[in-house]
Amino acid sequence: APGSPALTPPLGWNSWNSFGCGITEAQVRQAADTMVSSGMRDAGYQYVVVDDCWFDPQRDAQGNLRSHPTKFPSGMKALGDYIHARGLKFGIYQAPNEKTCAQGVGTHPGSTGSKGHEVQDARSFASWGVDYLKYDWCSGSGTRDEQIARFTIMRDALRATGRPIVYSINSNSFHAPTGDKYNWGEVADLWRTTEDLLDIWQNNNVNSYPMGVGNVVDITAPLAVQAGPGHWNDPDMLVVGRPGLSLTESRSHFTLWSLMAAPLMAGNDIRTMSADVSAILRNSRLIAVNQDALGAGGRRVRDDGATEVFAKPLSDGTVAVGLFNRGSGTTTISTTAAQIGVSGTNLTLTDLWTGGTSASSGAISASVPAHGVVAFKVTGGSPIQTTTSRLRGAGSNRC
Ligand code: GLA
Repeated sequence: APGSPALTPPLGWNSWNSFGCGITEAQVRQAADTMVSSGMRDAGYQYVVVDDCWFDPQRDAQGNLRSHPTKFPSGMKALGDYIHARGLKFGIYQAPNEKTCAQGVGTHPGSTGSKGHEVQDARSFASWGVDYLKYDWCSGSGTRDEQIARFTIMRDALRATGRPIVYSINSNSFHAPTGDKYNWGEVADLWRTTEDLLDIWQNNNVNSYPMGVGNVVDITAPLAVQAGPGHWNDPDMLVVGRPGLSLTESRSHFTLWSLMAAPLMAGNDIRTMSADVSAILRNSRLIAVNQDALGAGGRRVRDDGATEVFAKPLSDGTVAVGLFNRGSGTTTISTTAAQIGVSGTNLTLTDLWTGGTSASSGAISASVPAHGVVAFKVTGGSPIQTTTSRLRGAGSNRC
């Protein structure tokens, strides 16, 4: 949105996928500590986001939100201070409705959504040092116009605090199982494109909850042109390292989210993650692709059913490419430099996982394992103007 502090996709950790409504301040502090000790902070991760259920089921006598008395006894200002002291940023969750999602489904008591309290709540957040708000439409009803109006009220309330607060919205909860194709770029800094992603590869019942990695990619890939500095498609938090995905699947998921210029919000329990999972989250080559200043969303330039090719133009004129195998057997996937928008016959392919390099006169091809991705940065060529400007799309014209 205009004035956005998120000129590159936000990187961080969110409590929901691993802790749900049981999250406590001790766990959030441990996650913040782990962001530092694991090297995630140094790799670029910033935001520690406390999702649903952090709040007291009752507002105070003046209508102010306050933290849950037993789960967050020190209060949100103290938690924000703890996170900031570690060089990280503080994120929080609310809803534009009467109830948050957990209140709506009855896993947390009360009706303390921000509807009618937007200015007051935005001021509370700013006074606690909040740097990021996830604002989650938690109602089965509401027209598009109502959603736009209510999401805009909070955008304006946040901006009015004078504090740079990243504004992350979700219009989908209980609402749009087929995905939201609306371009929220004037309203929010990032917006969810689908229902919740769980740690499954693919839900063959494609338009129903829950989403798997493949389902989310199918809905989000066509929206690539909407991505750019200050306005990002959000295909949901990462399920990298969650038990339902293999390491190969986690690597593919991380690669695709990096190429799609998606926010990278780890959702695993980082306190107990394996070295392999930590290494996936800290892949510096892919993080650089994700954080590239041009902000182009990776486009699906080939879709052959079980195999697909994604290309993301980068600000230095090079292109990152992903060869994605959705199928159940190893297969060779091929594209060409021309197809991903690069001209030249003296190219270098740098493998974004191994760092190994190889020469190419234009062919880009690899044997890709089942559910795997092979990704390269293609250097040594020149951008093909027509294709590249099309690929760059709205990335540069909205801010
Ligand atoms: C919705 C959102 C999730 C999470 C929960 C919290 O389902 O999509 O990401 O925030 O609400 O209740």
